[in-house]
Amino acid sequence: MVHGPKRPGTPALEARNLTKHFPVHQFGGRQVVHAVEDISLALPEGTVTAVVGESGSGKSTLARLLTQLIKPTSGELLLDGKAVGTSAKERRDYTSHVHLVLQDPFSSLNSVHSVRYHLERPLKLHRKARRGELDELAKSLLERVALSPAETYIDKFPHELSGGQRQRIAIARGLAVQPRVLLADEPVSMLDVSIRLGVLNLLDDLRERERLAILYVTHDIASARYLADTVVVMYAGQVVESGPATQITDSPAHPYTQLLLSAAPDPSRTEAVELRGRGAPPSLVNPPSGCRFHPRCPFAMAICKEAAPPALPAAGDDQVAACWLLSPDHAPAAAADTTPSSAADQ
Ligand SMILES: Nc1ncnc2c1ncn2[C@@H]1O[C@H](COP(=O)(O)OP(=O)(O)O)[C@@H](O)[C@H]1O
Ligand code: SF4
Ligand SMILES: [Mg+2]
Repeated sequence: MVHGPKRPGTPALEARNLTKHFPVHQFGGRQVVHAVEDISLALPEGTVTAVVGESGSGKSTLARLLTQLIKPTSGELLLDGKAVGTSAKERRDYTSHVHLVLQDPFSSLNSVHSVRYHLERPLKLHRKARRGELDELAKSLLERVALSPAETYIDKFPHELSGGQRQRIAIARGLAVQPRVLLADEPVSMLDVSIRLGVLNLLDDLRERERLAILYVTHDIASARYLADTVVVMYAGQVVESGPATQITDSPAHPYTQLLLSAAPDPSRTEAVELRGRGAPPSLVNPPSGCRFHPRCPFAMAICKEAAPPALPAAGDDQVAACWLLSPDHAPAAAADTTPSSAADQ
């Protein structure tokens, strides 16, 4: 099941069946963290896909897999429909197409170097820009991230800028390599609330003006609704629900999506979503059997503990959720012996 907006043509970036298991040494033995499990995702140009989930659900691992910063345990990446190779040259080419913007704009910029240095370096290295054109190109990057007039910012140092301006510089530096795909891992979570909207609007502009394919990683489902075309909800390393952003946030089908929404009230939602959330995300060394959400789910049934639910169509077009409640054979109306929440207490 490929999660992401259904658009004609080949997506800029596609992930097929990505899995990442990190080996760890625990209690004297060798075990694995099941950080990302069998995720397929399509990122078409000119779209924003939000990956939403609590801390530890595998979002950053997924973003790092998409940048090739880490190797998948299994699965593959396709750029413009072609499998991505692993030679040094192919990896270099790939990094100029797919750029990662990190959460902390301060640590991603070097405090001893000016804005000019941060922007001109990738222009020289990746774009092979000539000395005479560097100034103009660097200034045009600043204009593209709405740091205008560029002269005000180009010779400043990171500590002379606000958090939002630093994040814009980090994004401008990414644009210097002319990427097709921008992966933004919690790009506003460390910024003051007052300037978050500005950076989200910049991402929206880049989707629109530059036709970038954007992956927006966040724990905040309300911001995902604001920015994204598509929302992909992750829980314990797996995708549990995906679909058009407004549909997912108006009519969440998966109990975990409902939990996320109940924790992040959205004033534009008309119907209240109520769910008694309990417990914390599970260990990914020994994830729960069946549906990984079953120990926290108030609707859990016997089947939930035994078998992992497949991705099933939910109410709206293109909305799918991995939950037995959507299966006609297992939904409470069909299953006479269903006792909501009793299985969850086990
Ligand atoms: N290098 C690593 N080695 C071992 N475990 C890791 C490593 N990186 C991430 N993890 C584990 O993978 C899981 C998912 O982490 P992460 O992708 O950072 O989640 P999120 O970004 O959603 O908070 C967590 O249990 C985390 O501890
Ligand atoms: S009802 Fe069952 S399958 Fe659905 S989320 Fe709850 S535990 Fe998982
Ligand atoms: Mg993270």
